[in-house]
Amino acid sequence: MHSLEKAVLSLQRELNISAKKKQSISAHFQREMIKGLTGRNSSLKMLPSYLTNPSGQETGTFLSLDLGGSNVRLYLLDLLGHGSFNIRETLAFPLKSACKNGVSYDYTAASVTGEELFDFIVSKLKNLISKEIPYSLGLTFSYPCKQIAIDQAVLLKWTKEIKTAEAVGKNIGEMLTAALRKQQVNNVTLKAIINDTVAAQVAGAYSQQHCRIASIIGTGHNSCYLENRRKYLAKAGIINIEAGNFNKLPFSLYDKKLDKLSVEPGTQLLEKMVSGKYLGELVRLILLRFSEEGLLFRKKISRLSITGVFSTPDMSTVLGDNTKELGNVSKLLFEKLGITNSTYEERLGVYMICQIVQKRSACLAATSYLSILEQIDGLSTPHVIAVDGSLYNKMPEYAEYLDEALVEGTRGKKGTVTVKPVKDGSALGAALAAAMQ
Ligand code: GLC
Repeated sequence: MHSLEKAVLSLQRELNISAKKKQSISAHFQREMIKGLTGRNSSLKMLPSYLTNPSGQETGTFLSLDLGGSNVRLYLLDLLGHGSFNIRETLAFPLKSACKNGVSYDYTAASVTGEELFDFIVSKLKNLISKEIPYSLGLTFSYPCKQIAIDQAVLLKWTKEIKTAEAVGKNIGEMLTAALRKQQVNNVTLKAIINDTVAAQVAGAYSQQHCRIASIIGTGHNSCYLENRRKYLAKAGIINIEAGNFNKLPFSLYDKKLDKLSVEPGTQLLEKMVSGKYLGELVRLILLRFSEEGLLFRKKISRLSITGVFSTPDMSTVLGDNTKELGNVSKLLFEKLGITNSTYEERLGVYMICQIVQKRSACLAATSYLSILEQIDGLSTPHVIAVDGSLYNKMPEYAEYLDEALVEGTRGKKGTVTVKPVKDGSALGAALAAAMQ
């Protein structure tokens, strides 16, 4: 067998999540959930959201603000009841912009403060609203927060490599309201702050009342569920698991290296194996090793040493290449890495590496969902999981692999699991949360 083929097979074995590993992950995940719910030290924070499922009757016009990835999104949205809604207007802008017409900024950097970040967002929000109309605002803020009330949330830590200063430990509700008032925006009232998983949950439940679990597979990865066991929560409510921080996992050499290079090593370990912020980087580290060992491209490709040179969207380009000779992969290898003479076998090798990393991500996400469902009712009833996020929505075949892993995991169980993709979950969820107040 060709040495590249052998190396790919060995990588496949190394990154494969066997049935035995799944069992062990699931047992640990459930234990960590209980520890988090009962206030013990746990990798899963299990944060109450002060929110439950909507009734389906919610109507009216709301402002939604979605802050949780590289772009901020603002929406003016009509809730029409029973799962229907209409987005009237949207405004999106990046938190980071490379030198365009001499203007460059980065509101995710340690040199910028939380106050400056919210001032910037409000300066943009002013372009979407009229001065005369009163607005109720829902904020989807996709970072771990300790909720004090539905409109008050203290940021516990940044995730997804954000470094903005003077924000951790602060009340996000107060910061946003202060920024609004500072710029004389007195007609906008913040009604609710929710995590994006919680937004997906309420968005899913708006049309499917029995939706009890939701998840994001995007820049980050996290899940939430509706807890109604009295021994854990006095009043039924949605719990933000902060699942991305789960850490009892089988790490490969590449995972360890990626973690070491990250802003906060030792944290968000599941997220680093599942989500879009990291998958492209994992592939880069694998390609680097393969090229160093002469298995790919016949020499060490120096550009592969640059962090971020191969991104998750690049992975999607590779995985979506249906051309006979993998021509799109060839083009990408040239544009990103300066490789001009890749062979078909090498391009196929790159494709397989991306697929192995992708499949492991879907398999781990599915394993965490099945663990949560085991906790809810031992997987004895049918369940709908509301899923949103760029990786899930955009990466070719990701949804299929997730379904496959869920079907495999429910074999022999009474319950079934169906994934319900939720579109615009963060926008709809924030509006619903505001409407429920
Ligand atoms: C990160 C955040 C979490 C969020 C997830 C998806 O894991 O910590 O709050 O839900 O990303 O955006």
